[in-house]
Amino acid sequence: MKILLIGKTGQVGGELNNILKDMGEVVSVERKQLDLSKIDSIEPTVLDIQPDIIINAAAYTAVDKAEEEPDLAMTVNGVAPGVLAEAAKKVGARLIHYSTDYVFDGRSNTPYREEDTTCPLSIYGESKLAGEKSIAEAGAPYLIFRTSWVYSLQGKSFLRTIKKLAAEKDTLRIVDDQIGAPTWAGSIALATRKILEQCVRDNSEPSLSGVFHLTCQGQSSWHGFAKEILDLSGTSQDTQLLPIPTSDYPTPAARPLYSVLSNDKLEKAFAFKMPHWHDALKDCLSSTPAI
Ligand SMILES: NC(=O)c1ccc[n+]([C@@H]2O[C@H](COP(=O)([O-])OP(=O)(O)OC[C@H]3O[C@@H](n4cnc5c(N)ncnc54)[C@H](OP(=O)(O)O)[C@@H]3O)[C@@H](O)[C@H]2O)c1
Repeated sequence: MKILLIGKTGQVGGELNNILKDMGEVVSVERKQLDLSKIDSIEPTVLDIQPDIIINAAAYTAVDKAEEEPDLAMTVNGVAPGVLAEAAKKVGARLIHYSTDYVFDGRSNTPYREEDTTCPLSIYGESKLAGEKSIAEAGAPYLIFRTSWVYSLQGKSFLRTIKKLAAEKDTLRIVDDQIGAPTWAGSIALATRKILEQCVRDNSEPSLSGVFHLTCQGQSSWHGFAKEILDLSGTSQDTQLLPIPTSDYPTPAARPLYSVLSNDKLEKAFAFKMPHWHDALKDCLSSTPAI
């Protein structure tokens, strides 16, 4: 099996690059080999590699900066995934892609299901939703995993920011009225591998095509997540964490106040349960960085 992995320098891509190694031939491309903002380069790259599976872990993920660069965010997150899906169709590959909880507006107070109405509050959310739609329109078998609050030991992540700031400051003010599910990139990669193994074993295309929510279990505020990070790192006594409302921490892009995703569909389709975010955080902190 030949897997084309896009985005190996990212949090999820880095973990995938490690965990997929023994599943076949993994061709990992970085931005310099395939820049998703250069739409015309996508199909020739895919035709050249002739993969059986394409995993797109690359995305424009700078949520606030996207408000200033809507065209670039839309090209990379909205248009490129559809072109990848068209190319996947040409070579007979299955496409695995990741999307976000930020496709929802956060007005719910129960976990969002896949069929719930989307209503992104930000350019980033809009661009990711456009990517979901462009993939579906292409007509190749695909799996889109909507995930949330992704962190890891490498790259830009809340986990690393909190650890760094806690080492520098006595007090940190952290938002406590946004609720979501922190999800370790390593858990996403492991789940992707298990699902991929199942798809290959059962030759389940295309009936298992579609959008699936894939996040760690449980929920937290950013404040609760920060507290757990410092508790597990043994540094909570050195830093005071002050809970603040979103209104005290204005950002260019609006975020949903509630974006917990129900994993029921995933669990039923793949007989697979994601770990609780507390357990995943412990596993992450005791792991070695993937990249
Ligand atoms: N981070 C989150 O909290 C979060 C939450 C929900 C969903 N997601 C989704 O989960 C997936 C993985 O996110 P992540 O956190 O692992 O992302 P990440 O750590 O920010 O990594 C993004 C990856 O995309 C690559 N990339 C960006 N622009 C590119 C371009 N024009 N051409 C080619 N590659 C490009 C980056 O390459 P460079 O190293 O060259 O920049 C990097 O490898 C994404 O689909 C994201 O939307 C993330």
